Amino acid sequence: MRIGILGSGLMGGKLGTLFARAGHDVVFSYARSEEKLKRLARSAKGNARAGTPREAGQDSNALLLAVHWSRIDDVLAQAGDLAGKVVLTCSLPMNDDDTALVIGNTSSGAEKLAEKIPGAPVVAAFNTVPSEVLFDVYAGRHKAARPSLVYCGDDRRAKTTAARLIRDVGFEPLDAGPLRIARYTEPFGLLVAQLAYEGKGGPRLAYTFQRSKS
Ligand SMILES: NC(=O)c1ccc[n+]([C@@H]2O[C@H](COP(=O)([O-])OP(=O)(O)OC[C@H]3O[C@@H](n4cnc5c(N)ncnc54)[C@H](OP(=O)(O)O)[C@@H]3O)[C@@H](O)[C@H]2O)c1
Repeated sequence: MRIGILGSGLMGGKLGTLFARAGHDVVFSYARSEEKLKRLARSAKGNARAGTPREAGQDSNALLLAVHWSRIDDVLAQAGDLAGKVVLTCSLPMNDDDTALVIGNTSSGAEKLAEKIPGAPVVAAFNTVPSEVLFDVYAGRHKAARPSLVYCGDDRRAKTTAARLIRDVGFEPLDAGPLRIARYTEPFGLLVAQLAYEGKGGPRLAYTFQRSKS
C-alpha cells in the first residue's frame, strides 16, 4: 500500500517506519522541520520519503492521522481533499495540557474526525498502545501469541485495510465494531497511558484479550 503519515512524531514516526519495513510505500509529513521528515525517511530503511501533507494525501490509498487534537484542523486543511482515502486515526481528543478528553460519552474524536472528512472512511486504531511498545511488537510479529489491538470503523473495506496494517505491525487485530465504539476505545487509551506512564511497569505495555471458557 501507499501510506501517508499525517503527523510524524512519536506515533507517526514509529508506525510509518514499521509500515515501510513491512513493505509499504510511506510518505512522512507534518513535523516542524523538513529535515526531521527526511531523517525519518532515511532511517526507515524501506521505501519512504518526506513530503507535504498534500503529497501524503495525494499519493496514498491509506493515511495515518497522528497529531495532537489541537492540530487536526490545520493538518486536514494542509492535506486537502481526502475523499476515498482510508484514514486511520490514533489521535485522542485531548485538551491542550493532555489532562482530559474534550469529547466523550456521546461522541468521540474519531466520529468528529469522520464528520470533518465525510468522503473518507475513518478507522480508529493504534490509539490504545504506548508508542514505546511498537518496535518490540514488530520484532515479535512472527510469534504465535501476539498482543491484541482494538480497532473500530463503519466501512468494511477500510477496516480490512486497517486490520492488515495492524497485523503488519505485529498485533492481532480485534474488531470492536462500528466507529461509535471509539467512545469507549478512546478512554481505554487513557487507561493504557495511565498504566504505562504512572503505573509500576512503565510504558512497555501491550494487552491481550482472552475468552474465558465456562
Ligand atoms: N505517544 C503515544 O504513545 C500515543 C499513544 C496513543 C495515542 N496517541 C495519540 O496520537 C496522537 C499523536 O501523538 P504523538 O505522541 O505521536 O504526538 P507528537 O510526538 O507530538 O507528534 C505530533 C506531530 O505533529 C507535529 N506538529 C505539531 N505541531 C505542528 C505544527 N505547528 N506544524 C507542523 N507539525 C506540527 C509534530 O512535529 P515535531 O515532530 O516537529 O514535534 C509531530 O511530528 C495524539 O493525538 C495522541 O493522543 C499517542
